[in-house]
Amino acid sequence: MAYGSEIRTDEARTSSPVNAGSRAWKPLDMPELEYTPGLAREMAPLYEKVKHVIPSIEWPFFAPYIHAINRLKKERNAVILAHNYQTPEIFHCVGDIVGDSLQLAKEAARVDADVIVQCGVHFMAETSKLLNPEKTILIPDNRAGCSLADSITAADIRLLRQQYPGVPVVTYVNTSAAVKAESDICCTSSNAVKVVESFGVDRVMCLPDEYLAQNIARQTDVKIITWKGHCEVHERFTPEELMQYRKDDPGIVIIAHPECPPDVVDVADFSGSTAAMIDWVKTKKPRRVVMVTECSMSDNVAVENPDVEFVRPCNLCPHMKRISLKNILESLVYMREEVHVDPAIAGRARQAVERMINLKN
Ligand code: 13P
Ligand code: SF4
Repeated sequence: MAYGSEIRTDEARTSSPVNAGSRAWKPLDMPELEYTPGLAREMAPLYEKVKHVIPSIEWPFFAPYIHAINRLKKERNAVILAHNYQTPEIFHCVGDIVGDSLQLAKEAARVDADVIVQCGVHFMAETSKLLNPEKTILIPDNRAGCSLADSITAADIRLLRQQYPGVPVVTYVNTSAAVKAESDICCTSSNAVKVVESFGVDRVMCLPDEYLAQNIARQTDVKIITWKGHCEVHERFTPEELMQYRKDDPGIVIIAHPECPPDVVDVADFSGSTAAMIDWVKTKKPRRVVMVTECSMSDNVAVENPDVEFVRPCNLCPHMKRISLKNILESLVYMREEVHVDPAIAGRARQAVERMINLKN
């Protein structure tokens, strides 16, 4: 099976020019972005909350953007959905709804606003559009992709169906709408085992994350057929580096995301989605913890857990990091980049996401 061609990237982020459900929006004036003494006073309570993770030297630059974004959200009747991997000034200061992929998909289905600004990557914005065809969905940088979403195409799924006739196809939400449209149901890292077992059959394809699929396979009797997609952030962790943390501090707690290779998950004390990792830290309150996932997670969790010491083995997601306060503000001023999904695939893709959301416990 081939992996990672340019065509995959194009398919993942190209949609038809059909403008279903969107309105003609007028651009607004770009707000003044001055850090005046008055603004400093007004924003001081917010800075108090994030001062442990945002250096004071950066705040005068961030504060005018945060102020302007929060004002424009009201003007546009917009909400900001921010993934757990967004930087703290986005996650804590402008995000209205924050969470893991499953939480964001569920909230996207319930949101009461004219506009959703997706601070995350493109597949997340597409999922929001699928669930809100009448709303305007914006992503501040259209190039925010994902190595997993780029690893598989709709044509690949059709070929797999020929190769494994009758075997259900579960695709990770980290896929394009075109791939979702070829799937029976979606899953995220927090519900993958439940989704795989929901068919009541002995064989299921779980695509495209090979490591997530292998990690799930160890928790179920269902035989899992995998694909060679990997998250470029999580595949870089090694068991050796984690064992070194244990050697240096035997009392340290290690928690890992299931997109990590299974031999990395083996070294961890707990593995779960980004939301499950956050809950684990909040509940167990370890003295010292290594969060084996994207860098910004530890910063975001540290804000609400001042007594926990976070060791940060930092692997950045370059796609998540394309989103900044500057381009969020521009997206609200100019109403860009608007996300569309080709109506020819939207219905089937929506069904795959809704089946996942509606799955009973
Ligand atoms: P979750 O937030 O669902 O754990 O997924 C992690 C991820 O890699 C999203 O891009
Ligand atoms: Fe994709 Fe990995 Fe980045 Fe998540 S962290 S968006 S899975 S590349």
